[in-house]
Amino acid sequence: MKKIFISLSIVAFVFAGCSTQTAKDEVLTLKDALGRHNILAGVAVNVDEVAGRTPKAQDVITANFSSIVAENCMKQEKIVPEQNKYFFDDADQFVDFGEKNGMKIIGHCLVWHSQAAPWFFTDDKGEEVSRDTLISRMKNHIVTLMTRYKGRIYGWDVVNEAIEDDGAFRESPYYKIIGPDYIEIALKTAQEADPDAELYLNDYSMSKPGKRDKYVELVKSLKAKGCRIDAIGMQSHNGDDYPDLAEYEKSMDAFAACGVKVMMTELDLNLLPKPEDFGGGANVGDDFKYRQELDPYKEGLDEKAQKLFDERYLAFFKIYEKHKEQISRITLWGVSDKTSWLNNWPVEGRTSYPLLFDREYNPKPVLQKIVELF
Ligand code: G3I
Repeated sequence: MKKIFISLSIVAFVFAGCSTQTAKDEVLTLKDALGRHNILAGVAVNVDEVAGRTPKAQDVITANFSSIVAENCMKQEKIVPEQNKYFFDDADQFVDFGEKNGMKIIGHCLVWHSQAAPWFFTDDKGEEVSRDTLISRMKNHIVTLMTRYKGRIYGWDVVNEAIEDDGAFRESPYYKIIGPDYIEIALKTAQEADPDAELYLNDYSMSKPGKRDKYVELVKSLKAKGCRIDAIGMQSHNGDDYPDLAEYEKSMDAFAACGVKVMMTELDLNLLPKPEDFGGGANVGDDFKYRQELDPYKEGLDEKAQKLFDERYLAFFKIYEKHKEQISRITLWGVSDKTSWLNNWPVEGRTSYPLLFDREYNPKPVLQKIVELF
């Protein structure tokens, strides 16, 4: 059937219930286009969006995406800030929202060194806990969250950012206190807690050869030990000159060859100037001082930057199209430029343009080209 591509203003019109018969039949959005290849179109959502405090965002989410992931509300420091004191309100609302809109809901994330609850690795006296205690706390955390949302969450980022760029294990408290087998323990616990949920390992800078090789080795050895891993998440916090596209593709092929699906789990594109010594990646702890020359597009991207943005996004989606058999989900890390974490990382207070919807929640022209690709 012949499809006509229309702009989101018409989509919004349709969703506001003001469509004409013709427009209603011919809307093709990102979720339709990717869905034709069994790829979920995902987006990370924040609590304001879920609660409806930014209504335009909700229209964009429900019209364009088939999957949501919690940007922050399921992280340990948010969901269990004090021992045995869970705060589920935001996560409950997030899951309700996804269900109400028929979306595949992704839980992010169960085991992560960053944004850990302050009490998690120490005892009452402030001393580091023992291996047994940390194993028990980690298991308890996984079981508590997965049981609460059993049957409702489609897949979980079980272990996040476990490996350094050079392929070494990250020396996180989990690694240092438990040892490298914390990943196996986490996966097996998750598998038991909700056997129907997909289980993922998720990390940034996945195009780096050392990291790629380590994940390949890890997936193979974990599978040999009886762990189930459904997919590897390549976060894909991309820039104008990173990752190297050939290396990026190599990683997709390498992961797929291990018998797991590949997902782009946190896609965005940062074109702002890089501070000296910035090595790419997505290490939340990076923090560079604001300087005006690092923030050149306060009033909008100039023509050259806009062109680069469009070309680079298309280059990534051309790769995704080429590898579509390997991919199960492509998730944008945020709805609109207005709320992207990249306005505040790795330099606070900049104006960034990394996503597919602008600050007014309008689709960027490149979105239509992406849809056409699929
Ligand atoms: O909610 C508080 C608010 O009450 C307080 O007033 C404000 C003042 O700083 O902070 C708010 O929390 C912030 C939170 O985002 C919500 O906006 C935290 O400080 C801030 O650290 C947090 O940043 C998040 C970051 O992870 C750390 O958790 C980003 O939004 C989120 O996009 C980012 O996401 C990570 C993925 O989870 C893992 N991969 C890398 C990715 C990007 O860093």
